[in-house]
Amino acid sequence: MDIDLIKLKLEKILGKERLEHSINTSKVARKLAIKYDYDADKAEIAGLLHDCAKDLDCKTLEKMILEYKIELDEIIQKIPKLLHPLVGAVMAKKEFNIQDPVILKAIKAHSTGAAQMSLLDKIIYLSDKIEPLRNMNGVEEVRKMAEIDLDRAVLMVLNKGLLYLISKSLLIHPISIEARNNILSRVVFI
Ligand SMILES: [Fe+2]
Ligand SMILES: [Fe+2]
Repeated sequence: MDIDLIKLKLEKILGKERLEHSINTSKVARKLAIKYDYDADKAEIAGLLHDCAKDLDCKTLEKMILEYKIELDEIIQKIPKLLHPLVGAVMAKKEFNIQDPVILKAIKAHSTGAAQMSLLDKIIYLSDKIEPLRNMNGVEEVRKMAEIDLDRAVLMVLNKGLLYLISKSLLIHPISIEARNNILSRVVFI
């Protein structure tokens, strides 16, 4: 599906703010892709679609999980926020006809990270958190770091996310710990 068609379809399933966030994410993803020598169109598509399932109501989410036989691990079952990346990856495939597994994985990995993050995983993970509408503490430093060192910028966001979850005594998905360990070893040792 081409980019304009994706946008038209997204307009029908996302709220106004989510659509703006998705378009912003796709623009940042495109810029980062060019900077880090990755396919800019793929990055734009993944950015546009990363939250395609986020405005679905609980019932529809549950229905899709059953219909598409999406496997949920024990932790994800306890963190409803982590369902939309999994359903989103399947929706991107089934409803937006995105067949590229690299794009689908980046959508799937945009909340938790992934044990082994591809360049596109990192671009989407980061673009989602630093697009212009985002205003988390320290976002400006992450934006600056994203211009210099992608791994360090991803590490900064993973660290912030984990610290936040700990401060609120919330569950942490083990994939995020693995993601952080792997990125950390790249940042420190390479
Ligand atoms: Fe999301
Ligand atoms: Fe998002």
